[in-house]
Amino acid sequence: MAKIKRVNHVAIAVKDIDAALVFWRQKLGLELDHIEEIALEGVKIAFLPVGESAIELIEPLGDDSAVARYLEKRGAGIHHLCFEVDDIENALADLKAKGVQLINQQPRRGKDGRLYAFIHPKSASGVLVELYQLAGDKET
Ligand code: CO
Repeated sequence: MAKIKRVNHVAIAVKDIDAALVFWRQKLGLELDHIEEIALEGVKIAFLPVGESAIELIEPLGDDSAVARYLEKRGAGIHHLCFEVDDIENALADLKAKGVQLINQQPRRGKDGRLYAFIHPKSASGVLVELYQLAGDKET
C-alpha cells in the first residue's frame, strides 16, 4: 500500500489571484513561490509555501472549467486538499479496490513531471482530495 507522506497543499478557489494575494501575501505574509497556468485543467495557480506544505490559489482561466462552476455555485473557498504519496499508481489501484470513487482513474502528469489524480468528494466526506507523486519519487 502506498504511503501518504504529507499534506502537499490546501487549495483555495478564487476569482482573481492578484486580488487574493493582497491577503495571502501582503497581509498574512506568505511568500509567493510561483504562478503557473495549467491548460489541461483550465486554471491558473499561485503556489505559496508554508513549511512542508503550501497554500495553492486557483483561478479559472475560462467560464467552463470545473473551478469556474465551483465559484459560481459556492463562491471563493477551500477547493481541495492534496496528499503527497510515494506511489500514486499503487494508491489509486488500492483505493479503487476498496470501492472509493475516483475522478481520474489514471494519474495525469504535470509540467514538472509530478503525477496527480483526484478522488471524488462523494467518497471523502465531501472533500475533493488530490494525490500527488513528485518527480523523483518512485517512477511508474
Ligand atoms: Co492541487
